[in-house]
Amino acid sequence: MKLMVIGSGGREHAVIRSLLRNPRVTQLHALPGGGGIAAQAGVECVPIAATDIEGVVRHAVDFGADFAVVTPDDPLCLGMADALEAIGVPVFGPSKAAAQIEGSKVFAKGLMRKYGIPTAAYEVFGDFDAAMAYVERAPLPIVVKADGLALGKGVTVAMTRQEARDAVRAAMQERVFGESGSRLVIEEYLEGPEISVLSFTDGVTLVPMLSSMDHKRALDGDEGPNTGGMGTICPNPYYTEAVAAECMERIFLPTVRAMNAEGRTFRGCLYFGLMLTRDGPKVIEYNCRFGDPETQVVLPLLETDLLEIMEACASGRLSELDVRWSGESAACVILASGGYPKAYEKGKLIEGLDERGQLPDGSAEVFHAGTLLEGGRYYTNGGRVLGVTAKGASLEEAVAKAYAAAGRISFEGLYMRGDIGARALAALGK
Ligand code: AMP
Ligand code: GLY
Repeated sequence: MKLMVIGSGGREHAVIRSLLRNPRVTQLHALPGGGGIAAQAGVECVPIAATDIEGVVRHAVDFGADFAVVTPDDPLCLGMADALEAIGVPVFGPSKAAAQIEGSKVFAKGLMRKYGIPTAAYEVFGDFDAAMAYVERAPLPIVVKADGLALGKGVTVAMTRQEARDAVRAAMQERVFGESGSRLVIEEYLEGPEISVLSFTDGVTLVPMLSSMDHKRALDGDEGPNTGGMGTICPNPYYTEAVAAECMERIFLPTVRAMNAEGRTFRGCLYFGLMLTRDGPKVIEYNCRFGDPETQVVLPLLETDLLEIMEACASGRLSELDVRWSGESAACVILASGGYPKAYEKGKLIEGLDERGQLPDGSAEVFHAGTLLEGGRYYTNGGRVLGVTAKGASLEEAVAKAYAAAGRISFEGLYMRGDIGARALAALGK
């Protein structure tokens, strides 16, 4: 069976490593893939951009792809899944219409309001003066969000009026996010622990994956600027059985039904970014895809075959599968280039990895987010460089193993947070 995975990065590396466990996979093409992905046996990286719909479709025909997995948000929002399905290639990943749940925060908030799904109270602004007038009178803190995709940088949690004004001006006047900032969602500030829940859905059945916790800020103690994510742990101790049941009933299934009612049936991975407030769980954001780096802790604990699940999602047979998880915990520590998420240098030699891009002692799995493989050696090629994931019988053990493994890898300027999992362990009383 010939597979295509559209994307590059740590999340894609994790997806590909899981897919390759299925013996039916004979060839896998990653478009465009990256350093660690290129080193996987049976995988070929093809230099076609993930957003190049025509190029990807042409390659699917030439290659004779039997199945495609589209992981990043931008190609999904551009209609990559629709284009591949139109030429008869089954796809794991939502249609353009369904991907709007991530592609437009105005759409997502409207959906939640219309169908009574718990989320922060909000207002939408398409007019600069009206938005500025609102931030003068709104209670602080206040959260300013660009409507469209903004590489994860479109959200400002403003503690002061000046920060809120600056965020509105940057998005609407300076257009730092381009068209994505032409409309804004300005919403109520929520407090509580954050929980990420990725789910598999075929548009009728929804199967939540194990819960996880991201660590989005650059510095220890959740300080510093927002990043794409500096590490994750799984499962999230705040996601108790009672919380899970409430989420299923009040958030997950209502969202699937709401998307159907809107004629935007969602098939693929639906990601719920949740905040556990005093009034119960509320949706902070939806993503139309696997989270990064959540995927790097969730998929290593999946026991059921990932390809079987993805095929079942694409063909409406998810209810027939029993999706099972190992009872372990996992922790992922991101190794980043010094300076990230601001300016950083690339091209530094990475030491401690073998030719497969893994640790020689196999004590942890290494997912490549931004590396370049050249002459059998790996070089840094992005802000987030590697994700080091370890599993353990307890979260404590997983975290300790992940840090021990991360300590065996080095490159000039390497930066990692030192407290991934600390909040979760404190919640467990450790
Ligand atoms: P996003 O880019 O949508 O993932 O948002 C980035 C981060 O901003 C989230 O992970 C939250 O920590 C924070 N955030 C977003 N919306 C809110 C809100 N309404 N209240 C408090 N924090 C928020
Ligand atoms: N880790 C958050 C995201 O993938 O959006």
